[in-house]
Amino acid sequence: MANDFLTGKTVLVTGSSRGLGRALVDAALDQGAQRVYAGARNPAAHPDARVVPLRLDITDVDQIELAAKAVEELDVLVNNAGAASYAEIDDREELDRMLAVNLYGPYDVSHAFRHHLTASRGTLVNVLSTTSVAAVPVLPAYSISKAAAYSFTQVLRALLAPKGVKVHAVLAGPLDTDMSQDLDIPKTAPDAVAAEILAAVAAGTEDVFPDPFAAALAAGWADAPVTLMQRAAAEMVAA
Ligand SMILES: NC(=O)c1ccc[n+]([C@@H]2O[C@H](COP(=O)([O-])OP(=O)(O)OC[C@H]3O[C@@H](n4cnc5c(N)ncnc54)[C@H](OP(=O)(O)O)[C@@H]3O)[C@@H](O)[C@H]2O)c1
Repeated sequence: MANDFLTGKTVLVTGSSRGLGRALVDAALDQGAQRVYAGARNPAAHPDARVVPLRLDITDVDQIELAAKAVEELDVLVNNAGAASYAEIDDREELDRMLAVNLYGPYDVSHAFRHHLTASRGTLVNVLSTTSVAAVPVLPAYSISKAAAYSFTQVLRALLAPKGVKVHAVLAGPLDTDMSQDLDIPKTAPDAVAAEILAAVAAGTEDVFPDPFAAALAAGWADAPVTLMQRAAAEMVAA
């Protein structure tokens, strides 16, 4: 069933080739989006005519610039593309790679589309991870990059609020996608997570915990000391 949040809206999802990104594209279509830009390193045709494949390697600033020119209007930007790594903490190159994809990618894409979003008084969704707030030491570079991306999300939330843009963080637990295929733990199906993300964003939830694993963090989060401190800090911008 479509909700008012996406009916007639234009959405861009990065990393749409598979996993959660693909599920988010399909969920946005189910929710009545008028146009969905499916960002991917290797864009592919989609059976639904509302989908516009968009070449977008989020680590390539030239491609980001071209994508921003190709998209005329945008209501919702979903920074979903991401990569994980089990490399050791002393592997500096791998830390650089994680930061390039999970921090600088969303940073550059958000910057490139900021005028679209302020024009539409739109919505920005950063797909992060429970590792953003509770690091997993066997995923050191990934955890570090996702924590930095959560900080970036808080900053953007405060800076864009006066311009009418809502910024959401998705703090997801293990998903049943390629990224977690080697993890022998309970995982949630990406289509269920995609639907939950869109429902929570539509409801105005700023920090979204979209699966049973992440839900363990959700209890009391809205009024937790860390959240209250984030809000107080954000008010320094508004003041
Ligand atoms: N899987 C989990 O357990 C889990 C848990 C919490 C959060 N998340 C987050 O959820 C998001 C989606 O992950 P997933 O589980 O769907 O992983 P996935 O199945 O591995 O898919 C990752 C997606 O990101 C794309 N991507 C990677 N590097 C890119 C780049 N430089 N430019 C553009 N696209 C790029 C991939 O494109 P290609 O096909 O071209 O490689 C693919 O579409 C990520 O941000 C991830 O950190 C995942």
